[in-house]
Amino acid sequence: MSAAASNIDAFWMPFTANRDFRTKPRIISGASGHYYTTADGTRLYDTFSGLWTCGIGHCHPKVVAAVQRQVAELDYCIGFQVSNDKAFALAERVIDIAPEGFSNCFFTNSGSESVDTALKIALAYHRARGEGNRTRLIGREKGYHGVNFGGMSVGGMVPNRKVFSPNLIPGVDHLRHTLDLQHNAFSRGQPEWGMHLAGDLERLAGLHDGSNIAAVIVEPVAGSAGIIPPPVGYLEKMREICDRHGILLIFDEVITAFGRVGKAFGAERFGVKPDIITTAKGLTNGVIPMGAVIVRDHVYDAFMQGPPHMIEFFHGYTYSGHPVAAAAGLAVLDVYKEEGTFEQAASLEQTFEDILHSFADHDKVIDVRNFGLMGAIELASRDGAPGARGLEIHKKCFWDEHLVVRNGMDVLQFSPFLNSDVDEMQRSFEVIRRVIDTVD
Ligand SMILES: Cc1ncc(COP(=O)(O)O)c(C=O)c1O
Repeated sequence: MSAAASNIDAFWMPFTANRDFRTKPRIISGASGHYYTTADGTRLYDTFSGLWTCGIGHCHPKVVAAVQRQVAELDYCIGFQVSNDKAFALAERVIDIAPEGFSNCFFTNSGSESVDTALKIALAYHRARGEGNRTRLIGREKGYHGVNFGGMSVGGMVPNRKVFSPNLIPGVDHLRHTLDLQHNAFSRGQPEWGMHLAGDLERLAGLHDGSNIAAVIVEPVAGSAGIIPPPVGYLEKMREICDRHGILLIFDEVITAFGRVGKAFGAERFGVKPDIITTAKGLTNGVIPMGAVIVRDHVYDAFMQGPPHMIEFFHGYTYSGHPVAAAAGLAVLDVYKEEGTFEQAASLEQTFEDILHSFADHDKVIDVRNFGLMGAIELASRDGAPGARGLEIHKKCFWDEHLVVRNGMDVLQFSPFLNSDVDEMQRSFEVIRRVIDTVD
């Protein structure tokens, strides 16, 4: 067996059918701009911009140069009681583009860590204010908040929860999700139906007494469950209920932050201000793993009590504020500004929406959903084989058409580059239509 083959055996791949993968591997060895390349030099167009990560394209020269410079200048720096110049600079820059009132930024290494950090901040915030009874956390069905125990517990993706069900953290309830094809199939953007479902929070506040609830966490637009935009008025109503009961509102913006919905944050786009925002992915364009939790001043201030020599929050990671990741983040934020990336993303929305909804007439398609540059084409499942059609399309696109297309079961998901070329985007969807035609 060749060295390459034994490498393939050793890597236990995440969220992958490992045995199926090894029968005919899909391995990328290079990338530039909007394309991946394989070892034999084949170029593949990336319809998912990484994993929602690489909005400005792969290997952006400014980001590559910043990382190269930083790794030679300061490769690592202790992050507890000492830190590095780039981490402070990046925190300031993130706060500069955050909605008004957000004052502080806590660095993590991933979306999952951002979520668990945010949940811990919420619990500790209430305790610091003398409301330690507020321990209950609320998530939502179909929510995805990463794979750590907190995020998994508030999340609502059944396959991710199933095996760990007895070990999920106690004291968590879930709102109903808002995807109902009878009422909101083929909505363009936000569906008109479903605002009333935010009222589930009021019901839970009635059941437990709102004074026992610490926080509710939602993705402003659910991503991993297959792009579920919030119904009109839904997030506004959620904010109102939180205010009435003193509940913290956490927006998980690991996908929606940094231009994906045409603004720096979903909070800005929807005009609804949460208390805490979690981010990752677009913070560094995926180049170096990094996440950030940003909080409003009242949250931060609640911690800044007691003797000043005491650590205010016993939490952090060896790599929080890593200088190379922070340098990547600074370069990425520069590019967003210099190239007008968020505005460019906003200008592509209508074209993207029109292309996606042109699939509505296809007999295998049961729904099309979109918001910003997030989109989904939901296919009918084959009898007795949910997910098989989606996976076959993914593989056919990769091997025969040189397109990387993500499927979540039978939902084809799309995350175009924020600086997509319209012709390229159009061509990729022509190919996808042909592939949908040709599979069973
Ligand atoms: C909304 C949301 N939260 C959290 C996560 C977890 O992020 P990570 O995979 O970086 O841990 C994701 C990942 O896709 C996500 O979409």
